[in-house]
Amino acid sequence: MTPSTPRHTSQADTPQEAGKRAAGEAAADWIRDGARVGLGTGSTVRYFLLALGRRVKDGLRVHGVPTSHDTATLARQLQIPLLPEDDAWTLDVAIDGADELDPHLHAIKGGGGALLREKIVAAAARTLIVLVDHTKCVPVLGTSMPLPVEVTPFGWPSTARHLQAIGGHTPTLRTRHGVVFQTDGGHYILDLPLHETHDYARLEALLNLIPGVVENGLFVNRTSTVIVGSPDGVRVTHRDESSPV
Ligand code: 5RP
Repeated sequence: MTPSTPRHTSQADTPQEAGKRAAGEAAADWIRDGARVGLGTGSTVRYFLLALGRRVKDGLRVHGVPTSHDTATLARQLQIPLLPEDDAWTLDVAIDGADELDPHLHAIKGGGGALLREKIVAAAARTLIVLVDHTKCVPVLGTSMPLPVEVTPFGWPSTARHLQAIGGHTPTLRTRHGVVFQTDGGHYILDLPLHETHDYARLEALLNLIPGVVENGLFVNRTSTVIVGSPDGVRVTHRDESSPV
């Protein structure tokens, strides 16, 4: 773990916001000239994008692959060049947030509903760097939120029943402002409270075997490096100390 202090702080920041800002800005420093970068989604990644945009303005050459329409829109505003959606990209690094992170660097993602594109982009990247503020670190996944599972609208109640059989609890269809939430890919999200389990890899694989499940928000053994931000700065943890980032 390597601590370092934040450079930009705002009087208005809550401790959580200061943590997000610190993590996002630190990550932008790690992007090398010429890198091909997966651009995650969420309020923590937003700080990364703003800082990366400043570096691009100063001459850094990068190409990004956005994981959501929101991220694509912000990246374009910041003049971060984007690769076409339908390229067979190989990326140097994906930078993304998470909703929960356990001590083994396993994560739950999908609070913002972008989990499918986030997992595709992470899988295309040599390394995945996850940015979180200190409030996201939990002893066990599922502590503060259910697991997002992206499903096809067709037959979703039937898919929900299968999820319940595996997860042990009743999933909830995600809504926003009173209407069913739809992902960028036009799918629904079922939020599944988790049974206590330590075999997240098995659960991640099992859930994806259910017909109708498009992807789930478990990111197991995928994270190479975590940057945890707090008002005091950032702490960096590598999964494998010998692996270069
Ligand atoms: C979106 C995600 C986000 O990375 C996750 O929800 C964290 O978001 P935030 O940084 O806003 O807390 O997985 O699908």
